[in-house]
Amino acid sequence: MTLEQAGDDLSVLDLNGWFATNGRDFLWRRTRDPWAILVSEVMLQQTQVGRVAERWPVFLDRFPNPRQCAAAAPGAVIELWSGMGYNRRALNLHRAAMKITGDHGGVVPSSLDELLGLPGVGPYTARAVLVFAFEQPAAVVDTNVGRILARVAGHRLDRKEVQALADRALGDHDPWTWNQALLDIGATLCRSKTTQCASCPLSSYCDWFAQENTPPDPAHASAAVSRPQSTFEGSDRQGRGRLVDALRQREVPADDAAEVMGWADDPHRVKRVLEGLLTDGLVVRDGDRLSLPE
Ligand code: ADE
Repeated sequence: MTLEQAGDDLSVLDLNGWFATNGRDFLWRRTRDPWAILVSEVMLQQTQVGRVAERWPVFLDRFPNPRQCAAAAPGAVIELWSGMGYNRRALNLHRAAMKITGDHGGVVPSSLDELLGLPGVGPYTARAVLVFAFEQPAAVVDTNVGRILARVAGHRLDRKEVQALADRALGDHDPWTWNQALLDIGATLCRSKTTQCASCPLSSYCDWFAQENTPPDPAHASAAVSRPQSTFEGSDRQGRGRLVDALRQREVPADDAAEVMGWADDPHRVKRVLEGLLTDGLVVRDGDRLSLPE
């Protein structure tokens, strides 16, 4: 099926009824506060919804607006990020709060270009804020949406094609509901390894369903669809996380970094990974002592 045809088909499909019955209820779907939405979407990029549901209210309680976040030390934001993983996001959120405060009068901007200018905000997050906070017409493409659209089109899509198809499919739909519904369909029915096509409101528009889900799955190797995450156990990320976790509690002597990271017998790795953390600004070194940035 051509992308134009697929987009036009979807643009007339009503998902409001499906969403009213099947949409998931999350706290962040009950607000339109752009800072709260930005925080939720940054969290949701790489952390499971259950964990975000726990941590998001705690974060906003402490940092209810960009000004209060910007006024805190970056280390305080990293501390509050505990349990979330991928700590660079916390640092970027703090940097975004500083930019919002410095350049935008403390108000989260509502244009795509200005949102893309915020640290840590890419095409997905920028559009998510436009849609979920400002209810502007934009089409969000994350790995779930990328997977759905490749299957609907019936062939693999590159990044540009996915966004073009998502934009066309948006049509005149209510953008908030349309995008949330697609995220839910991707999370519940049109999953990476399992599909429930019989219950899917897109099935009659879906080329891959018409092909009786014959392999290869068009979502595989589509550009907007992520590969499975590499194993955490034994990874650099694990060592980075261990050190940052320790620093949430106390300063660490640089000489203890190897042990804290769990690599007492691999000084080269310790040096390389520690340098990465220092370059990122997640950890600072003062003489012999390591700490979170003040
Ligand atoms: N994943 C990314 N954004 C989401 C949202 N707004 N609701 C649920 N899951 C999401």
